[in-house]
Amino acid sequence: MRNERLIHIQFSPERSLQEQIKEHVLENIKQGVYGDKALPSCRKMASMLRVSRNTVVLVYEKLVDEGFLYSHQRSGYFANHAEQSDDLLQSAKTSTLDPTNAAGAQAQFWAQRLDNQLNQHRNIQKPANWNHYPYPFIYGQPDHSLFPLTQWRECGRLAQRSTVIHDWISDSIDADDPQLIKQLQANVLPKRGISAQTDEILITIGTQNSLYLLANLLVSAETTIGIEEPGYPDVRNIFAHHQARISPLPLDVQGIALSKQLAQCDYVYTTPSHQVPTNITMSLPRREALLKAAEQHDFVIIEDDYESEVNVVSLPSPSLKSLDTQGRVIYVGSLSKSLSPGLRLGYMVADKHLIAAARKLRRLMYRHPPTNNQRTSALFISLGYYDSYLRKLRASYIEKWTEMRQAIDRFMPQTVTHQTVGGSSFWLKLPSSISAQTFAEEAEKIGVLVEPGDVHFYHQSPDSQHYVRLAYSAISREKIAPGIEKLAMLLNTLSA
Ligand SMILES: Cc1ncc(COP(=O)(O)O)c(C=O)c1O
Repeated sequence: MRNERLIHIQFSPERSLQEQIKEHVLENIKQGVYGDKALPSCRKMASMLRVSRNTVVLVYEKLVDEGFLYSHQRSGYFANHAEQSDDLLQSAKTSTLDPTNAAGAQAQFWAQRLDNQLNQHRNIQKPANWNHYPYPFIYGQPDHSLFPLTQWRECGRLAQRSTVIHDWISDSIDADDPQLIKQLQANVLPKRGISAQTDEILITIGTQNSLYLLANLLVSAETTIGIEEPGYPDVRNIFAHHQARISPLPLDVQGIALSKQLAQCDYVYTTPSHQVPTNITMSLPRREALLKAAEQHDFVIIEDDYESEVNVVSLPSPSLKSLDTQGRVIYVGSLSKSLSPGLRLGYMVADKHLIAAARKLRRLMYRHPPTNNQRTSALFISLGYYDSYLRKLRASYIEKWTEMRQAIDRFMPQTVTHQTVGGSSFWLKLPSSISAQTFAEEAEKIGVLVEPGDVHFYHQSPDSQHYVRLAYSAISREKIAPGIEKLAMLLNTLSA
């Protein structure tokens, strides 16, 4: 009985047997389960776990090499308690809360110290298990099947060669990996018409982090920031968190409208490639007019070039940064859409004085993004894998975007708000009798995930309750039309 408990492992098919057995044995050693007795013999362990004896021998030998076990001729393997004395001391010191200090008192203790505003932010919500739904029309998650894992692994291996390791194993203090900077300068930024010197670029842990750094550096209660309405909720929350005055800027079919509000702005945040969430691409005349307005009213533009690569119907438009002759554009980009959001790598391109200040601030926060990630990405770009992945991604996006467009036009044409030229999502408007929240809840019950759009609006109004965003990056192509058909049927049911 005792042995069965010691030797029970629920194996996961995603990890190697050796890895899981080793983890199990280590856990048991840590908990003192084996005491001074010998571990189950290799043969016994193997037969109980239904694995080969060799697998168990390899695990035990590895644990001997690493000092967690020692072997005693003929008696078997034993836990090396001498190795664990530090851990045991540590766990003896682990504190537990006084049970008389009730949870309510703790809540109050911290409520007095924490900024309650953070709890009031409205954020996009996605179920953590979104990938278990048959029709996940959710935004910002990649299609795992497209990721070039072999090439990424190769670059990881190259980055970890003994001749290279010293480049990233050390603390770089406030520096970026020069190889990634070089690749951005040579292969990534030129695609957006941007040429930048080394001191004009800062690597961050994604666009969201770049925006946070900018808010921290540039914003106070006296600052007015114009954001698109509807727009990216996290940017609204980031700037509100820094006490900025938020000015929601209306949109038209060409992008940010040239409204009177622009004159009051110190900064204007925009997503011109594919406006989030409407997917409107800012026209070239509007880009030029916005730059002119920036000069006229003395504001700075923060260009979030999200999804610049996801163009379907037309070629990408030039970035605002590439048209800027006044030094009024701060450009933020990331590898989240073009490679992986989990990688957490972004970049900011701006005047060297601003970059120097952002570097100092970044140093206070986390010094620099993990250099091994930076180096692997640099190799990935330099070996041409990034470009070839982008081509593959674009081809897949074109197919799926077209499938979405056709399915929406066929099954629920009444929801189309405007025609777009790309972007990884569609912004639809439901009839005024159906709220987007109800629609999303009912859709979830039939296995279809959509995002209610009200979270994107600064001003909540009756009108803002009827938009939904449908993205296609995470759903397979053959699921698109059936998923949209299900939504159309739901729309009919809810309209009846
Ligand atoms: C407009 C926009 N900018 C930035 C981000 C986040 O980018 P990153 O992953 O680089 O932080 C998102 C994520 O959805 C987004 O929609």
